[in-house]
Amino acid sequence: MTNVDDLNELAKRRGFFFPANDSYGGLAGFYVYGPAGAALKNNIENSWRAKFVIGEGHFEISTPTISPSPVFKASGHLDEFDDLLITCSTCETSHRADHLLKSQHTLSQSSDVSIQEFKKFLSMYSLTCPSCKNTLDDSTLREFNLMFATKVGPGSQTPGYLRPETAQGIFVEFPRLSSYARGKLPFGVAQIGTSYRNEISPRKGLTRLREFTQAELELFIHPTDLGPTIAPTTTKLPLYSISQQESNGTLESVTAREALDQNIISNRWIAYYLELSIDWYNSIGIDLNRFRYRQHMPNELAHYASDCWDAEVEIGGDWIEITGFAHRGNYDLSKHNTHSSDDFTMFIPLDEPQKKIQTNLNPDMEYFGPTFGKLAPEILSRIDEMAMSNSNIFDPPEINVDINGTIHSVLSKHLHPTTGETIINGEHILPHVIEPSFGIDRIIYSILAHAFHEDTIDGETRFLLSLPPSIAPTFVGIFPLLTRDNLDVIAQDMASNLRTSGFSVTHDESGSIGKRYRRQDEVGTPFCVTIDHQYFEDHTVTLRERNSATQIRIEANSIPTILESLRNGSSTFSDLV
Ligand code: ATP
Ligand code: GLY
Repeated sequence: MTNVDDLNELAKRRGFFFPANDSYGGLAGFYVYGPAGAALKNNIENSWRAKFVIGEGHFEISTPTISPSPVFKASGHLDEFDDLLITCSTCETSHRADHLLKSQHTLSQSSDVSIQEFKKFLSMYSLTCPSCKNTLDDSTLREFNLMFATKVGPGSQTPGYLRPETAQGIFVEFPRLSSYARGKLPFGVAQIGTSYRNEISPRKGLTRLREFTQAELELFIHPTDLGPTIAPTTTKLPLYSISQQESNGTLESVTAREALDQNIISNRWIAYYLELSIDWYNSIGIDLNRFRYRQHMPNELAHYASDCWDAEVEIGGDWIEITGFAHRGNYDLSKHNTHSSDDFTMFIPLDEPQKKIQTNLNPDMEYFGPTFGKLAPEILSRIDEMAMSNSNIFDPPEINVDINGTIHSVLSKHLHPTTGETIINGEHILPHVIEPSFGIDRIIYSILAHAFHEDTIDGETRFLLSLPPSIAPTFVGIFPLLTRDNLDVIAQDMASNLRTSGFSVTHDESGSIGKRYRRQDEVGTPFCVTIDHQYFEDHTVTLRERNSATQIRIEANSIPTILESLRNGSSTFSDLV
């Protein structure tokens, strides 16, 4: 079982991660990745890129982290991206109200509900301040927007916000991106980058940061696209659906195909990504016995989502979300289509042009102008739309048109509709979006927590990070047994040759060999090579594997080839043994 304190201590000592700005008293929610952590993060990001971008034939972009406020007004983040904050009137500490409710009463209530609704809960379940243990007063409850505001430029200054998700950068650029995709659906656009949220209570290492890295994929699909064919496989998905949560049931272990057939998952694209992703989590070292996909309860869904499954991992007895798989529908594109000056629709040509009877309006502008003023064009375009689906709308003497909730009555006799045949070559549609959104920091934390063990080797206790070789910060440690007799020079040469071949290598001469092995075990280096005096007799060196601590003798010249086969997976250490 992971001891989270030991893990955090090791992470600091061995340069994985530690709180930033410590010399100035620190600032909660901001972390530094040290040399081992930064290397691990790069390896994970590259592995994600290989799987979800290159492997799926999508493209990756990089957009700014600051955008002007109209972007977030349109996206709904200005009005909706809030958490409920409750402040202790005794010790003045602030807390996330929904988290307290969950931890103190094992009750889940979304922070998306109104304050009044939440107060109803608080009238039944009182909350205690985690800092001073006094009862919290619900009059301090308020909505707290999680975005960091900033001002751009001198003078009057344009208000802007640091992005709370990388996704909006992709949506805002959709008109240009769809032309790069040559107008063909589906297509996917990915981005790996920092996001910022002014979290109320940052905590638990890397799991709730104020600056963090997301790897997001926005898959744009035709609204009628039901998803790819999901073939039967042997990959089981541990699913915790809404109905199982409601009945306090257990995980259902089914394949993606079975989950669709049994209506546990309703969307084929979501099923596709859950299956693709579990394979990736496994490859980067997430322990699948401590992993599940949990469906969002209806009261939990983000303002843009119609369905969402979270990948969650267990750490120290808690379940932590590491990825959200959301069906965003056309929420974002329709918002930007309405709020911006650009066209966010895509023109999709029909396979065969179609003849269609179309109604054209010939309105009396002497009636429409004075009666409806600036609203006249919008009212006429709405009637145009209504006529497309109902050719009888002109029969009654009056037509009611709803514009933003106000009903305008239009006299039909001023419309003079005529019908004619037109050729339809295609249609303008707003694509729908399927979004897998991965949090890189939470994934790193989970991998470390799941890889972290304590065991005994040669009667000595050691900490061990059993990271998969493909993502380990250092692939091989090269040690001369002694720093004399030319052993150090041979080790130096071997290290530098391996670096030239693209291996990440640590060359370590200090301390006993045992100590050097322990150091590498703690940073998860899968292999170590020791050059000792036997080299001068038979030109062999020792190759040691981390988890088993097994050592074998290998011809020194074959080390690069052997390490390459271990790196690309064409052989395993036990094959060599
Ligand atoms: P939570 O409910 O835990 O706050 P969320 O539902 O707000 O998470 P999403 O908005 O779905 O998270 O964000 C997508 C992914 O980004 C998450 O799965 C997570 O891995 C990551 N993420 C979100 N907020 C944070 C944060 N404060 N620190 C680190 N990673 C985060
Ligand atoms: N893009 C999903 C999220 O960050 O909320």
